[in-house]
Order: sequence, then structure tokens, then C-alpha cells
Amino acid sequence: MSNKDYYGGGQQQYYPPQGPPPGQGGYYPQQPQQAYGQQPYGQPYGQPYQPQPPPQTVYVLPAGALKNVAALPGARSTTLNAARSLPRVRFASTSSTSSGAFESFANSRATLASATLLTVGSVAWYANLYGTLPFIGEVHANSPAEEGLHPAHYPWSHSGWFDSFDHASIRRGYQVYREVCAACHSLDRIAWRNLVGVSHTVDEVKAMAEEVEYEDGPSDQGEMFQRPGKLSDYMPPPYPNEEAARASNQGALPPDLSLIVKARHGGADYIFSLLTGYRDPPAGFEIREGMNYNPYFPGNAISMARVLFDGLVEYDDGTPATTSQMAKDVVTFLHWAAEPEHDERKKAGLKAVILFSTLTAISLYIKRFKWSVVKTRKIQYNPPVSKH
Ligand code: HEC
Repeated sequence: MSNKDYYGGGQQQYYPPQGPPPGQGGYYPQQPQQAYGQQPYGQPYGQPYQPQPPPQTVYVLPAGALKNVAALPGARSTTLNAARSLPRVRFASTSSTSSGAFESFANSRATLASATLLTVGSVAWYANLYGTLPFIGEVHANSPAEEGLHPAHYPWSHSGWFDSFDHASIRRGYQVYREVCAACHSLDRIAWRNLVGVSHTVDEVKAMAEEVEYEDGPSDQGEMFQRPGKLSDYMPPPYPNEEAARASNQGALPPDLSLIVKARHGGADYIFSLLTGYRDPPAGFEIREGMNYNPYFPGNAISMARVLFDGLVEYDDGTPATTSQMAKDVVTFLHWAAEPEHDERKKAGLKAVILFSTLTAISLYIKRFKWSVVKTRKIQYNPPVSKH
């Protein structure tokens, strides 16, 4: 069964039935007209097919563009004829050039309104994102003293892309932490085993851990007992709980130092500045009893007194223990404590950059290679020749 049997009783019909017959405005305008039967499908008798736009469609063409097309002699076609018979849109401008069409577009109220909306929207969005607007002065309720002096940027030996921590400095910094800071600050997230291979050997760390007594249990008799520390134990806290810590520090809580480098704005620079920044308060600055003046601390009055003084510790490696040397070492140690993955991260990052850039280069080459056939081919089209 063919579609001829389905649609037409012997007479030739077309599928889809909506389409014009060949030669009367279909897909192939050049196709020669042929007479198929007496009555073209869907048309009144004798009239040739005229493409009609669907009802209720308004074509909006810029006046200038239409004129330009009409000026081209070869461009006259049935499409243009169809467009001609439609109502044309007239613009306020009488200019006949296409720049006149652009002017009228630029001057239109809709353009003005949408440009204004876009501007207001962008400004509001920026202000919402960043809280401020550029080039516009601001008045802060806080003075610089209340926010703390901005620390200088120090050239840490580990801050470059390819730099690891200075592990000798970590070792000295641990000594400063243990001998000075550990009296008040805990280091909860660091276990003894974390020091192994970083700043100390296994035997050194085991010996240090064994000096500390840890409570363990219950034993066979159901009692808790004390035992020397092991590699898996965490650094012992100076106080049993927060209340005890506050009671010993006039109500102030010495924060845990495990993540302090990440937890403070300015990071390592801030902590170094804080430790070395103690000085006499300027004239007129009232400081409460028990508080200490430090320009880098927000509010400038800190409960922690100056703790580092020249010669306070004696380094194994003979480095002179000046205040700034100890501060630098302890901050390097705390930076390691906050980011123990630092060295590995940079190493892995470097490997990834090398690997992925090589893979990118290879895949670009392969892409160009595979596509070269397609990119350099020439397409020639021979239109069908009219037999009439
Ligand atoms: C005598 C006890 C004591 C010692 C020793 C001590 N601190 Fe503190 N530390 C404190 C107290 C108390 C605070 C809380 C200060 C405050 O909130 O006003 C503090 C706060 C801090 C802060 C947080 C500052 C901030 O921005 O909130 C850092 C960092 C710090 N100490 C580092 C150290 C380092 C490093 C050492 C060793 C070199 C050390 N501390 C030694 C008592 C001490």
C-alpha cells in the first residue's frame, strides 16, 4: 500500500497535505512547474498557490532595512512581495538611512527604561555583593584603633608557590610553644605522632610523650589509672576546662592555637605582629588594670601580657633566641599546625599543573590533527540543471 492509495482516489496528492505543490512556492522555488491533475491540492480552481502568512502575525521590520532591500534589483522575490502587502511599521524619524533606524531605537522610551533599569540593577547588585560602592567615601563607626592596626606583610620562607615550610623553624617553634605558650594555650588538634618526620624523629617524640602522664582506663579492677603518653595521644591541655582557664586569666579565655593562623584576619603576619607589638600605651589611652596595650589587637587592650623576651629559651641548634626570632619560629610552628598538609599540597599542585598542561597540549594537538580533514575540505555544490 502506498500513500497514493491512502490519500487519493487515483488522483495524485501530496504528503504532508499542508505543503504547496512543487513549483508553486515550496522548498525548491527553481523547480519547474508541472501540472499534476487539474486541481492543485487545497486551492480554489485555477488560482496558483500564493504563500500566505499565518493569521495575526505582524512583521516588524526596520523601515530603513526594508528600503535597502527594495533598492537591490536582484533581491525582489516572492518573500518581499509578501512583506510589501503587509502593514508597514512607520517610525517617528523621517530619516531614510539605517542609522536613522538605530537613532530611533536608541531614543525610544523602552530603550531608555531598560537601560535605566539595568544600571540601577547593576549598582544594587554590586552594593549587595560588596557592601560598598567604589569611588564613594564611607564613614565607619569603628576607628582603626578599634579594628586593630593592619599588620605588615612579612616575607615568610614558606609563602612562595614552590616553598615548603622551614622545618628547622618548626622544630624551634615547637620548643617555644612547649616552654612558653603551652602554659596557657592548648593545642587540641595536634597529636604527638604528627610531629614525627616533621620536626622530630620517632624516638625524640616518644621520649617527649612519655614525660607526660595521661589518664587511661578502666583497668581490670575497674579503676582509671595514669600512664605515660604514647604517640597517639594528643597534646596535653594546660587547663582541665574553660572555666579553669578563665579563672587563671582574669576572665579571659586563651584560645586553642591549633587553627589560630587560619582563624585570624592577617594569619601569620597578624600573630607575629601581635607577639612583637607590645609597647607602652600612647598618652591619653586609658587601659584597665590587668590589660595590656597592643596596637594590632582589635580594641588595643589584650588580656595576654607580653610573653616573649630576648633569651627566654635556649635553642638546641644555637640560633640566638631574640624576641622576633622566637615569634617567627612559633608562628611558623602554628602555621604548620593549622595547615599540616601545606608541603604536600604544593607538591601535588605542582604535579597537577605539569600533568594537566601536558595533557591539554596533547589533546589540542590531537583535536587539530583529527579535524584537519574537515577544516581544510572544500565543498562544491552543483545545483540541479533545469531541463526546460
Ligand atoms: C599567661 C598566659 C598566656 C601565655 C603564656 C600566652 N598567652 Fe596567648 N593569650 C592568653 C590570653 C588570656 C588570651 C586572650 C586575650 C584576650 O582575649 O584578650 C590570649 C590570646 C592569644 C591569641 C589570640 C589573639 C586574638 O586575636 O584573639 C594568640 C594568637 C595568642 N594568645 C598566642 C600566644 C602565643 C603564640 C603564645 C606563646 C608565645 C602565647 N599566646 C602565650 C594568655 C597567654
